[in-house]
Amino acid sequence: MKPLRIALTKGRLEKDTVGLFEAMGLDCTAVHEKGRKLILPVGNGEIEVVLAKAADVITYVEHGVCDLGVVGKDTILEHGTGFYEILDLGFGRCRFALAGPKEKDFFSGYAVKTIATKYPNVARTYFEGKGMDVRIIKIEGSVELAPLLGLSDAIVDIVETGSTLKENGLKIIDDVAPISARLIANIASLKLRKAEIEGLAARMEESKEKKEEKK
Ligand code: PRP
Repeated sequence: MKPLRIALTKGRLEKDTVGLFEAMGLDCTAVHEKGRKLILPVGNGEIEVVLAKAADVITYVEHGVCDLGVVGKDTILEHGTGFYEILDLGFGRCRFALAGPKEKDFFSGYAVKTIATKYPNVARTYFEGKGMDVRIIKIEGSVELAPLLGLSDAIVDIVETGSTLKENGLKIIDDVAPISARLIANIASLKLRKAEIEGLAARMEESKEKKEEKK
């Protein structure tokens, strides 16, 4: 039987997923000793891990070259839905928020506001939900700079501890959406390898619950 191929978002989500695999009793030595290798075996040849950037995890799963993926809900909300989201893994918790220099009066007045964000689709959906017409400017990183430099009235961005906002004099105006890591599955894989995928997802969920109980 060929291994289930699972794309992991490199970095923190990769580490948390490996922690979960180890709690399930799967051998992750190859991942710990990976060097610059990007495709690695986990367990007894039952899983093959692929290390990729978040948006690419979705691309590989959508195209079926990976059966499964671990990716943040932020990337899912921004980059579409051509796959199944099968499990909330509980780690990588943070949130999308609307933030700006002043928390008051953002929603008053008729002038069209300018919003800077790395996540234009998330921002558009949020403001459409509010029935508010805004101008969205895409920024690639350190979005907090945009209102400080006078480019935008506010930002839609990820907030984890809140310290980036605080240290730059920005305040949360509204919560947009909660974020955590999700297990996603290719649509065809979930049909063709249903028992294996559901078995692995069930073991991951059980292990997640045990970890949460210990906290
Ligand atoms: C993210 C996010 C915020 C920061 C929030 O940026 O865009 O800037 O983390 O974290 P905090 O609430 O704990 O301060 P990241 O570090 O990924 O860099 P980037 O802005 O360059 O994308």
